[in-house]
Amino acid sequence: MTEQVRIALLGSKFMGRAHSNAWLKVGKFFPVDPEPVLHTVVARDADELAGFAQRWGWRNTSTDWLQTVRDNAIDLVDIGTPNHVHAGQAIAALEAGKHVACEKPLAGTLQDAQSMVDAAAASQARTFVWFNYRRVPAVALAHRLVRDGALGRIYHARAAYLQSWGGPDVPLLWRFQGDIAGSGAHGDLNAHLIDAVRFVTGEEIVSVEGAIEHTFIEERQLVGDDAGGEISGAGAGRSSTTGRSTVDDAVLFLARLSGGGVASFEATRLATGYHNANRFEIHGDRGALRFDFERMNELGFYDLSADPAVQGWATIDVTRGGDGHPYADAWWPNGHVLGYEHSFINQAADILAVLGGGEPLVPLPDFGDALRTQCVLQAAIESARNRGPVSLAEL
Ligand SMILES: NC(=O)c1ccc[n+]([C@@H]2O[C@H](COP(=O)([O-])OP(=O)(O)OC[C@H]3O[C@@H](n4cnc5c(N)ncnc54)[C@H](O)[C@@H]3O)[C@@H](O)[C@H]2O)c1
Repeated sequence: MTEQVRIALLGSKFMGRAHSNAWLKVGKFFPVDPEPVLHTVVARDADELAGFAQRWGWRNTSTDWLQTVRDNAIDLVDIGTPNHVHAGQAIAALEAGKHVACEKPLAGTLQDAQSMVDAAAASQARTFVWFNYRRVPAVALAHRLVRDGALGRIYHARAAYLQSWGGPDVPLLWRFQGDIAGSGAHGDLNAHLIDAVRFVTGEEIVSVEGAIEHTFIEERQLVGDDAGGEISGAGAGRSSTTGRSTVDDAVLFLARLSGGGVASFEATRLATGYHNANRFEIHGDRGALRFDFERMNELGFYDLSADPAVQGWATIDVTRGGDGHPYADAWWPNGHVLGYEHSFINQAADILAVLGGGEPLVPLPDFGDALRTQCVLQAAIESARNRGPVSLAEL
């Protein structure tokens, strides 16, 4: 008989929609056991919640997250709230014996992230972190190719996450408030890049050799509590029409990999011309890979073992079922491309597989894994502020 996992979702905006869609669709495309039950959605605005629940199929709504995560009717707590509340919500859920799937970054601060890992260690429950880009088929294929030796020894990892939505007209959303977000483009975007480089190369980042943290737009318009996210403007003061941004708009850093290679990272919200260019290139002594999320159904591969007369960048269409392309068999005929939402549905399938006692298709990050990424975020900030190298072993 198929078991059930009853889910409480915390947060009902951007990630609330992405996660609701994933839990709703996963059983239509993957053979799932346990079966997800969209039990309760929690957010702060009761009126908006009713409509959200009806649209996405949640059976119940609540504005009280603590009562919900302690409810015996809940098995898994899915956290899609701003970064400063991840720790409190995850720890309460783990103490109540619930599995937790938390959005990235694991937390706004390294201290919060460590406390989440400690709570996970004291619990029998499973933890998961929504580094969803691992489950873009091209990225999962890149991981497999490197694991199977296609690149050989890794020389370079070059990663950039380029967005442009953070111009001066954007008000002081929670994403620009350090006490809520922890950092700006860094925790938001470099977290994805660090996870991707760790996942694809299979190596750890052992030191940050230098970094730049920069805030271009220091004052932003205040917004009311209901505009642009429910907690926007909180803590910014009401006496003037603008408030201070307390996060970076861009962070760049250089790092060393555990296998002896070198890596560069760049995250920005002010890369005019790019909307969600989440990119990496990896160069080894046998070949190279390149990926850009804005062309997410393709993976670039340069195979140094090919006849030199035909050596060149191959553009692999990663949608081919039956040919070993990760997740392709669950979806459409070859060449019928996937989108952003599929990465979350693929991750929901892997979370359910693990809860059912099986294996994920590719490694699934838990809190301990995400803590390593959080340590790299912290090392880069310290490197920028101290203008010097930071060894991860020193954190
Ligand atoms: N994996 C990804 O690609 C990705 C993309 C965007 C955001 N995120 C992460 O998801 C998280 C949420 O981001 P978002 O873009 O959905 O934010 P959002 O502002 O769109 O939504 C936040 C939601 O959290 C709720 N909320 C705020 N404080 C709360 C509290 N104390 N208790 C309960 N609910 C509360 C709000 O009511 C709202 O529904 C962040 O950690 C962010 O970094 C991940």
